[in-house]
Order: sequence, then C-alpha cells, then structure tokens
Amino acid sequence: MSTTIDKPAIAGGIPIKSEPYGSGNRYAEDEIRELKEALDQSTLFYTQGKKVHSMEEKIAEITGTKYAIATSSGTASIHTALMAAGISPDDEVIVTPITDMGSLVPILWQQAVPVFADVNPDSCALDPKSVEKCITDKTRAILAVHLWGNACDLDALKPICDKHGLFLIEDCAQAWGCTYKGKSIGSIGDMGCFSLNEFKHISCGDGGAVVTNDDNLARRLRLSTDKCYNREPGGSMRQAFFLANNYRMTELQGAVALAQTGKLARIVARRRAFAEKLQEGLTNVKGISIPKPTEGCDPSWWFYMFRIDPDILGVDADQFAQALQAEGIGAGAHYIAQCVYEYPIFVNHSAYDHGDHPFSRINYGKGMCPQAEFALETALTLPVNENFTDKDAEETIKAIRRLSDWFISSK
Ligand SMILES: Cc1ncc(COP(=O)(O)O)c(C=O)c1O
Repeated sequence: MSTTIDKPAIAGGIPIKSEPYGSGNRYAEDEIRELKEALDQSTLFYTQGKKVHSMEEKIAEITGTKYAIATSSGTASIHTALMAAGISPDDEVIVTPITDMGSLVPILWQQAVPVFADVNPDSCALDPKSVEKCITDKTRAILAVHLWGNACDLDALKPICDKHGLFLIEDCAQAWGCTYKGKSIGSIGDMGCFSLNEFKHISCGDGGAVVTNDDNLARRLRLSTDKCYNREPGGSMRQAFFLANNYRMTELQGAVALAQTGKLARIVARRRAFAEKLQEGLTNVKGISIPKPTEGCDPSWWFYMFRIDPDILGVDADQFAQALQAEGIGAGAHYIAQCVYEYPIFVNHSAYDHGDHPFSRINYGKGMCPQAEFALETALTLPVNENFTDKDAEETIKAIRRLSDWFISSK
C-alpha cells in the first residue's frame, strides 16, 4: 500500500468534516404572521378562511397549472388523484419500486394492483420501455415518481399514456421546483401530487396538494378530499356519489404552507448550487458514478444519490457509507434497503387482516426489477439542504475522493 495516501478516519486519520453542516430555522417571521392572521379569522375551516385557498392559488401559479387542491399529506394527494381518476378494484397502476410507501398505500387502499416497472439505474427514474412491457388490459394509470427531485422521462411516458388511454399521475413529493423542458413538473401529466411533510423542500409539518389543468378532474379532486361533499354554493352537500376520504387541510397548515411557498425559489436555487458543486467535484472519481438527471430536467435535488462500483473499490455501499460517516459526512447506504415489492406487505399479501385483496394475484418478490435492485444495492445518499455551505460541499467531495483513493490502494 502506498504511504502517500491520505489516511481516512476509519484507519485513524483526522475526520475531514471540521464543523457542523450549515443550518437555519425554516419557520420564522413569515410563518408567524400568516398563522396569526389565520387565528384572527376565528375559523380554521378551509371554506370559511382564506389561507388554504390563497396557498392553493400560489401553488397553481408556481406550477403553471389552472387548479391546485390542498390535501392533508403527500400520501393523501396521491390517493386523492387516484380517486379523482376513478381507479377501482383490480385496476392496475404502474409504479416504480424505488419510492416511499406513500406512493403505494393509496393504490392498495383503492383495491387496485401495483405493477412495478424497472428504472434507469443512473437516475432511478422509470424506464419507459419497461413501463410499456407492464401494460395489460387492466392498466389504468402510470404513477411517475420524480425521485430525488429529478423528473421521469415525461416525453416518453406521455405518448404511452395517450396510446393506451391511461392517466399520467406525477408523484412530485420529492421534486418541488423541478422543471422538465422548461415546465414545472406536475403540470405535464393529468395530475401532479405534492407533499408538504416536514422533510420536503417546503413544509407545513404535514400537508400536500394536487395540481391539474382539467376542470372535471379539479372538481373530482376537491370532492375526493372532502367525503364527496360538494360545498360550492348550491352544491349537493350530502349527496355523496363515490367513495372519498376526509383529506382536508386546516387553515393553520394552509397559513404555514402559504408562507413557505414564498421561499421555494430561493430554496431550490441554493440546493441546485450545492448539488452542482458535488456534480463537478465528483466527476471522474474512480469507482464513483454521479447521478445523471433525466435529459431536459433541471432537478431540485431533494437528496443526492450516487453509486459506487464495488469491483473497483473493493467495498460495498454499507462499508463506503460507514467510512463517510466516520469522516463526519451524513451519508446513508441504499436510500431504501430493498425494492418496495420486497416488503412483507407485498410478499405476504398482508394489506388487510383477512379477506382478499386483488393484489394477491401477483407474486411480488426479489428479481422483479433487476436494474432497480442493482441501483439500490450500489447506491448511497447524501443530504442536500439550502443552508449547506460551500465548505460543506468541498468537505464532502474531499471525503469521497479520499475514500476512493484509500479503498483502491488497499485492495
Ligand atoms: C416519492 C414520495 N411519494 C409520496 C410520499 C408521501 O408523502 P407524505 O409523507 O407527505 O404522505 C413521499 C414522502 O416521503 C415520497 O417521498
């Protein structure tokens, strides 16, 4: 082994991260002002106050869509979209196996059947060729998850939907501010579903929104968040005609989310600047594959997902992540430990305590999507945040370079 190689922290060297990551308080004066105004209305119900509706208008403006409908979470947003699309028992919805359960739970609640298409391992976005192979006469929708703030190949997915008469529903939970060919994501499919949970680009603790340009879908979306009660003036309040949930947002969440929408552009710009530094600094590092955004996409970088080559480095993703953590870098291995279809709920068909669910007709388990499995096995994630500094980026790059050199020289 060469003696000139810089010793990493796992081998007794000094950790590279010399001070904590940049941080900041995400809720401040703007949120307090909006909250006070909400309370001063003397109602926290969305039809009687102004905050939820103002927030909806702002989200429609940001995404360039005609309508935005507030919901109580990202999961609720996707469920609301599926209800609005009329997804019914035994219908099939094509989805990626690399996502949060929030993408899957709504499909199962509708008694519909998730069908997993494979991904492009460089971006983890749905592979349109694999999607096409999944289509049957039961397919009703594609749920395109824009993972880590990077868009799916919407130009390829849209014609597939048009050809087969499918809904294109965008899961934008991780991708606030992301654009695809100059347009906001969420505005390209039939509906776009956003999350406002604590960990997203903008937040109100928990909440969400669905955007659409379609008048009829907008009407059904609103009904789907409110027990199918039509609260429009002259509407048929207690004449529910399809199964809908209570996914309403309160004025308190609306107030905080409204203040947060004003911060989105800056948050996304700063995340982009940080991630672009990593992209530059990690290009051509031996054994490291940097993420490749989908062509035409300007990602908004919810996190930074890169892959390692264990054959070159002689270590696996877990070992590399541990070595980075020892350097003080907030790395994690894999994003999720395994593809969603390997979770017990799918393998054992255990959605409900008893009775049959239409998804029981599919044998879920390892081997379904080889590219997704390969991507997860070799993937690491790094945090991205609008408060991170240039020094945070430099130290991250330095630590990854140090480890690449060390592991290669130790083989
Ligand atoms: C891709 C994706 N879809 C849906 C969700 C669900 O959002 P929520 O936690 O707001 O229900 C998440 C949350 O992490 C997500 O990352």
